[in-house]
Amino acid sequence: MKTIIEPFKIKSVEPIHFSDEAYRIQALKRAFYNPFLIPSDDVMIDLLTDSGTSAMSSAQWAGIMMGDESYAGSPSFYRFEKSVKDITKMDFVIPTHQGRAAEKILFSILGGKDRVVISNTLFDTTRANIEYSGADGVDLICEEGKHPAIPAPFKGNIDTEALKKYIATHGTEHIAMVIITVTNNSGGGQPVSMANIRETQAICRQHNIRFYIDACRFAENAYFIQQREAGYKDKSILEIANEMFSYADGCTMSAKKDAFGNIGGFLALNDEKLATECRNLLVITEGFPTYGGLAGRDLEALAIGLKEILEPSYLQYRIRSIEYLTEKLLAAGVPVMVPAGGHAVYLDAKAFLPHIPQDQYPGQALVCALYTKGGIRGVEIGSLMFGKYDEQGKLIPAGLELVRLAIPRRVYTQSHIDYVGEVIIEVFEGRNAIKGLKIIEIAPLLRHFTAKLDLLS
Ligand code: F0G
Repeated sequence: MKTIIEPFKIKSVEPIHFSDEAYRIQALKRAFYNPFLIPSDDVMIDLLTDSGTSAMSSAQWAGIMMGDESYAGSPSFYRFEKSVKDITKMDFVIPTHQGRAAEKILFSILGGKDRVVISNTLFDTTRANIEYSGADGVDLICEEGKHPAIPAPFKGNIDTEALKKYIATHGTEHIAMVIITVTNNSGGGQPVSMANIRETQAICRQHNIRFYIDACRFAENAYFIQQREAGYKDKSILEIANEMFSYADGCTMSAKKDAFGNIGGFLALNDEKLATECRNLLVITEGFPTYGGLAGRDLEALAIGLKEILEPSYLQYRIRSIEYLTEKLLAAGVPVMVPAGGHAVYLDAKAFLPHIPQDQYPGQALVCALYTKGGIRGVEIGSLMFGKYDEQGKLIPAGLELVRLAIPRRVYTQSHIDYVGEVIIEVFEGRNAIKGLKIIEIAPLLRHFTAKLDLLS
């Protein structure tokens, strides 16, 4: 088989600012060992997130010029609404400025004290919005999803037996909803199977529980279903997406991922009463229901992006490029989550740095080493992000200590990815010299964004 090439040409370029290791050691120190606090000009390859970082297509840029900025009833909204409806077939489409705004609105209405939201794994902002409403989030990831080194086709699945057990033990009255994140970002970008979505919906329907999808990376998930699940090989990505959404009562989406948007999000719902309540809140915090915190030009770019994401040649290249880096690392013995996820490579920091205990944040130590060595910025998904404390103030660590290297869509070429692989392997070879970190300042919610740390001597 020939090399799978990037299915695009480059018309406009951005410079990368090169720096040396001595400069980056100082930059990291100034940022309190938290790459979120590093100015992006000091980053060479930015794998902090795949969110809002996509390169837009020439068609999207042309669409921006077509954006109609009417306060109410803009044709750009109707084009956006049509794109969302073609995919989700849901009746009510509510634009928001990004995914977490959709979450804030939804959980302000359905969350609240003594309520719980059950998921395969909630993303950090989703959990934060649930907890901020007074509710609790419960993650029920399947057993395969807990073991980074053991491959399985659908490691993002929710554990349906655990869900049934939870319902049998606690009842259903306080369950605000079950929401499945596709692909499962915090659990390695791993896909969820159609069978799992179908079964979860059946359990929810039997117990009269709302069933939602966090749809940020729905197309990447649909591609995995097409490639890995029996019966889907000959179905189009759109047909698979239609089926996925057909089981759900609604969805939240950050359009900064699989809609190639630099900003944007939406709520799509089938429940008219709930949609009205959401729109009432939307007007207070986001804007009028036909723009919801976005400019007409943003809606136009998203309407086009939601069509482009369904293209088979794009998804084949996208998933292959993540797999390519994963294979390179595996060949060098680097502990990496397998199989490759949809949008990112996840390093297993516990196995990478076994000499650093979890209360010294091995994931963050690895993130810092990748920056120092190669100017690469990744993000810790471990005890810095999700750690809690017991009554004695001792850290209750996260289950996994991962470092996520998220690949922006259509931005980096194969040689950038080769460079990333070389840097990771170099860091792996010198891993014994890497030191742990201690927290010196931390916020109560979404703590990893602003945390300040220091090196342990
Ligand atoms: N849900 C999931 C699964 C996400 O990955 C994100 C964002 C959100 C919701 C919130 O969307 O950023 O538009 O408000 N994930 C980004 C990331 C930030 O880096 O993975 P948002």
